[in-house]
Amino acid sequence: MNDDSSSRIVASLHAWIAEAPPGARLPSTRALVAEHGVSPVTVQKALRALATRGAVETRPGVGTFVREMSALRPHDHGWQTAALGAQPRRGLRRSVALRTAPSDAVALHSGYPDRELLPHRLVRSAYARAARRDAAVTRPPSAGLPELQAWFAAEVGAAANDVVVVPGSQSGLATAFRSLVGAGRPLVVESPTYWGAILAAAQVGVEVVPVPSGRHGPDPDELARAFARTGARAFYAQPSFANPTGARWSPDVAERVLDLVRDHGAFLIEDDWAHDFGIDAEPVPLAARDGSGHVVHLRSLTKSVSPSVRVAGVVVRGPARERILADVEAESMYVSGLLQAVALDVVTQPSWRTHLRALRRQLGARRDLLAAAVREHVPQATFELPAGGLNLWLRLPDGTDVRRLAGDCEAEGVVIAPGDEWFPAEPAGCFVRLNFSGPDPGSFERGTQVIGESLR
Ligand SMILES: Cc1ncc(COP(=O)(O)O)c(C=O)c1O
Repeated sequence: MNDDSSSRIVASLHAWIAEAPPGARLPSTRALVAEHGVSPVTVQKALRALATRGAVETRPGVGTFVREMSALRPHDHGWQTAALGAQPRRGLRRSVALRTAPSDAVALHSGYPDRELLPHRLVRSAYARAARRDAAVTRPPSAGLPELQAWFAAEVGAAANDVVVVPGSQSGLATAFRSLVGAGRPLVVESPTYWGAILAAAQVGVEVVPVPSGRHGPDPDELARAFARTGARAFYAQPSFANPTGARWSPDVAERVLDLVRDHGAFLIEDDWAHDFGIDAEPVPLAARDGSGHVVHLRSLTKSVSPSVRVAGVVVRGPARERILADVEAESMYVSGLLQAVALDVVTQPSWRTHLRALRRQLGARRDLLAAAVREHVPQATFELPAGGLNLWLRLPDGTDVRRLAGDCEAEGVVIAPGDEWFPAEPAGCFVRLNFSGPDPGSFERGTQVIGESLR
């Protein structure tokens, strides 16, 4: 069987189906074998591919027919223009980082580590054990399984009851912005910052107020001015290994920011997304230094345990916890007990710690490999080597059209993330983000060669 011949038949039948009326019968397998000079197995493979795409249906013993609602037929969806109306002012757009790249592409755009960096044996056996437990058939409390709450709490020295389990920290961000800020009210954010936080803010309708943030964190004076000018009562930030820059707040900045949020009676929404991705340094959650409820801490397990175990914890003290919990109940009620049991099982196995130590070494090796390849093939780029996280944040020469660069690279089979998605306002320069935890570090060389050539 030959993949190329099968794709050729698929392409030719695509064109045929686009012209054919619904219900039309496709040429017989024998006719297709003769027309394309291939084996019946290759023809069957092509027909299966078309059936999977919803283009045809096979009636055993009768033949293969164009589906009434063939997915390949162009449909007129123009009526939706009137139903949806104009794009809202804060239109949501989809992120490059969530795109699924073709399997043969060099994928440097994604935000999630490749499966070879995950504790996949631990995860698979945790699923098997969880399936036998009550968690598989019972509803957990809305705030989460008590043992998992206790685990998240212990990580930052909080009480189990201070934790609300949510389906991933993306959902936790939307919940925090909705419950603690609210539509039309200001939320201070670092710039650049995580694209998903910008989208969650847009979705909730909060007004983002960007403050510049560098390799040691935000400028506390700028932050003080932003609080004073806007009356904001919340600051969303990533103190450890920020996405995208890899920045890590200095102890001095952390101290001053904590003082500022206390002085302004504000919340610091701390996104500790890279807690398990320290390379040369350990993350130090600010929540561990807060007893008065100013820091609302988000810790995700979906990147380090498995993207299929969408579980995160929000540590939130005081009346704010009730608001968050009410929002979670209104939005999604509770997180699947099965997923929570799997997450808990994985992070409480002795080999979880061993896995994290190995992961740190692997991330370090990948980071250094990608950095060396960038230095060699993209000498126009400048970057700081991050002490943790998953990304290199490259600054390119002023005037670089990063969207066009991404398009050119993609045409050569290399997918990169243009940096403008990480800016809540106009980008402060020309940046791209390259993830060093994606599939096949052996392809870094080729990926950076293509970026360098496309830049030239
Ligand atoms: C900084 C940051 N926060 C939050 C998230 C969301 O993570 P999840 O919803 O998978 O827990 C991501 C994912 O890319 C991220 O990079």
